[in-house]
Amino acid sequence: MQETPTWGAAMGESAMVGESAPVVLVTGSCGGIGKVTADLFAKHHYRLALTDLDLDQVSEQASRLAEQGVDVEGFACDITDAHSVGRLFDRVIDRFGRIDAAFNNAGRGGGAVPLTETEDDLWHACIQVNLTGTFLCMKQELKIMSAQGYGSIVNNCSILGLHGGASAPYTASKHGIAGLTKTGALSYASKGIRVNAVCPGLIDAGLGLKVLSRPPEVVRSLIDMHPMARPGTAAEVASAVVWLSSPEASFINGHMLSIDGGYGCH
Ligand SMILES: NC(=O)c1ccc[n+]([C@@H]2O[C@H](COP(=O)([O-])OP(=O)(O)OC[C@H]3O[C@@H](n4cnc5c(N)ncnc54)[C@H](O)[C@@H]3O)[C@@H](O)[C@H]2O)c1
Repeated sequence: MQETPTWGAAMGESAMVGESAPVVLVTGSCGGIGKVTADLFAKHHYRLALTDLDLDQVSEQASRLAEQGVDVEGFACDITDAHSVGRLFDRVIDRFGRIDAAFNNAGRGGGAVPLTETEDDLWHACIQVNLTGTFLCMKQELKIMSAQGYGSIVNNCSILGLHGGASAPYTASKHGIAGLTKTGALSYASKGIRVNAVCPGLIDAGLGLKVLSRPPEVVRSLIDMHPMARPGTAAEVASAVVWLSSPEASFINGHMLSIDGGYGCH
């Protein structure tokens, strides 16, 4: 019988200490979902490579966790810039030596105007961050994980990566992430790497807070699309990400995990 696949030494609490504890990279770590997920990885004894646009913010986040005894480093990186991404991964490997898991979470909104009224600049900016940024990070992660012979990648997609939505750039970028996820899963399974995505519905954190500040009738109609009749929480996304990243999910690959209170049942 084939053994359960493992990655790194991350099999059980006893192995999750010091140098043998797994290393996770979280992009967009200072944002609503990123911060809560980084905290949950820390609680699960991971070593953390955190990254976001603003160095002060990510350094402050890392200091807060370090004070709690977490082995953590904060790095500034613009994921739309291949050189910045290249430098990030060099520095993460210098500091931690490996990357067991990656949560490609950084993203931005794309407005909510009809496609015909969408400014080209907004289109390009949204595709650059959500799609090209995820691609550039995955490229580095897959190279590193291929050399290691193990690894897990979770992309932060959206229900709008599975269904149509009001914003053409955002919806297209998230459908693109679904393509990257499935292609990564197919092409790198033989290297011991799993690639999955979470597809959150409306979440009461980060970008979701902007949506929730729209006129009450708009918010009501959006919430009504979720059969559980409420927005989700960052903690509900985080727990799915940490589980998907772990050896507990060792035969789950190429999966788009909806965290949407039943939105996808429509
Ligand atoms: N909040 C929701 O309702 C919701 C629903 C579905 C999916 N998502 C996805 O969750 C992810 C996190 O979003 P959030 O809601 O926490 O929003 P957020 O704005 O709080 O977090 C996004 C983070 O990404 C960072 N970022 C943006 N551009 C970047 C760049 N060029 N380089 C590096 N970092 C960059 C931001 O600085 C920010 O910290 C996004 O991919 C978003 O599309 C959110």
